[in-house]
Amino acid sequence: MSSRPLRDGAPSIPPTTGTPEPDPKASLESKAAPLPPAPSTANDLDYSNFFWGSGKDPFDILGPFDDWFDEARPAGYYLFGQPMSSAPRSRVDVVEQLHKHRLEGLINLASYNYLGLSYRPEVIDAACDAIRKYGTGSSGSPILSGTTDLHDKLARTIADFKHKEECLLFPSGYSANLGVIGGLMRSGDLVVTDQFAHASIVDGIILSKAQVRYFRHNNAADLERKLKDFPGRKLVIIEGVYSMDGDLANLPEIVEVAKSNGARIMIDEAHSAFLFGPNGRGVAEHFGLDDEIDIHLGTFSKSLGGQGGYVAGSRKLIRYLKGFGRSHVFSCALAPGVVGGLIKACQIARDEPELRDRLWENTAYLQALLRERKVDIGDSQSQVIPIMIRDDDRVFKVAEDMIRGGVYLNPVRYPAVGKHRSRLRISVTSTHSKSELLEAADIIARVLDRHGLLCR
Ligand SMILES: Cc1ncc(COP(=O)(O)O)c(C=O)c1O
Repeated sequence: MSSRPLRDGAPSIPPTTGTPEPDPKASLESKAAPLPPAPSTANDLDYSNFFWGSGKDPFDILGPFDDWFDEARPAGYYLFGQPMSSAPRSRVDVVEQLHKHRLEGLINLASYNYLGLSYRPEVIDAACDAIRKYGTGSSGSPILSGTTDLHDKLARTIADFKHKEECLLFPSGYSANLGVIGGLMRSGDLVVTDQFAHASIVDGIILSKAQVRYFRHNNAADLERKLKDFPGRKLVIIEGVYSMDGDLANLPEIVEVAKSNGARIMIDEAHSAFLFGPNGRGVAEHFGLDDEIDIHLGTFSKSLGGQGGYVAGSRKLIRYLKGFGRSHVFSCALAPGVVGGLIKACQIARDEPELRDRLWENTAYLQALLRERKVDIGDSQSQVIPIMIRDDDRVFKVAEDMIRGGVYLNPVRYPAVGKHRSRLRISVTSTHSKSELLEAADIIARVLDRHGLLCR
């Protein structure tokens, strides 16, 4: 049996940000069409060409993918998943995967850990104490034997922090979106979300079998068009800070349109909880719209540098999701060490607002340095700062040169963003020093200049 990948023009997997999934009917027709000529170079192809394949065995696609990946890997795919051999501090050591070189002391602009809490000694002590008392795993689903008093304390801490009645924990932010959207929305319902919505939102909608409509990024008029003729149950989902562009949801207009069209509203504050708003609750608090939002979702992997996801809301909502959020019910509860560390990290985030002050100071400083140097950082309004490359091949070369120059940054390309929207993504933290940010900005500008990618 043999199989060939389908080339451009064939149906492709949806970007993990929210372009609609391929029309299944169109896909069937395309699968029957003759295959295009074989490609000339590995760079002519990307992951989209290996979603569908000919042949009767699902494994038929593995060989062609393997052959292509062997060829394409040195061109830049090797940059994905390179192991770090240090904590995600402002400087890191990385084991480069092409020649297995150990690169030491790179300025780290790639890790979330926005408040630098994952390696704070008090957080590590709390995690170790929890492991000593409860062991390394929870050994059960949260609804069976997996819940400990620590889990209850973390859920209560988040509910209080978010000023909501209750909170439910999930093994990850990804699974929180799957559990909440899949738990609440049904076939025949409508979910309307931003075209740049994260993969976990897209996958949650697919799982729910609800109808999906994407509105143009942050465009309330388009949201209105997508909502207004639908007579059934409706949910609008937005992100607080968009994960690849770093801009904020246009919340005041979106809330107005959603409410006037009878839709419920859910916000994913993965990159904004513990950072935005007078008390750090997120972008909803920043806009004074906390109480207008029905479902507040977030992760522990970004601002707190931990792991896990949560949803906060009314007592009735959480009770329902406890029964119907399948990624909560049918997956082991978070590990006690993670939970112990997170409780301490939450306390620090709440009690040390100066961490946020430092983050915003660092963000403003780096954004100004990059803009002065004519780096294209799109419309970022946050600690998430894209360096727009807009060239899917070139982004690998640029990332490689950044790392060689001393700055650790990851390439981001399709399917994490749309085709031809490639970029590098910066995460600023409160622990970067001004001198590290200045050095990084100079290296970034030098590399981009060499590639002719600075704005004119
Ligand atoms: C907006 C958004 N939601 C959810 C997630 C998933 O969170 P986690 O990585 O904690 O599973 C991410 C992660 O990148 C995200 O950016």
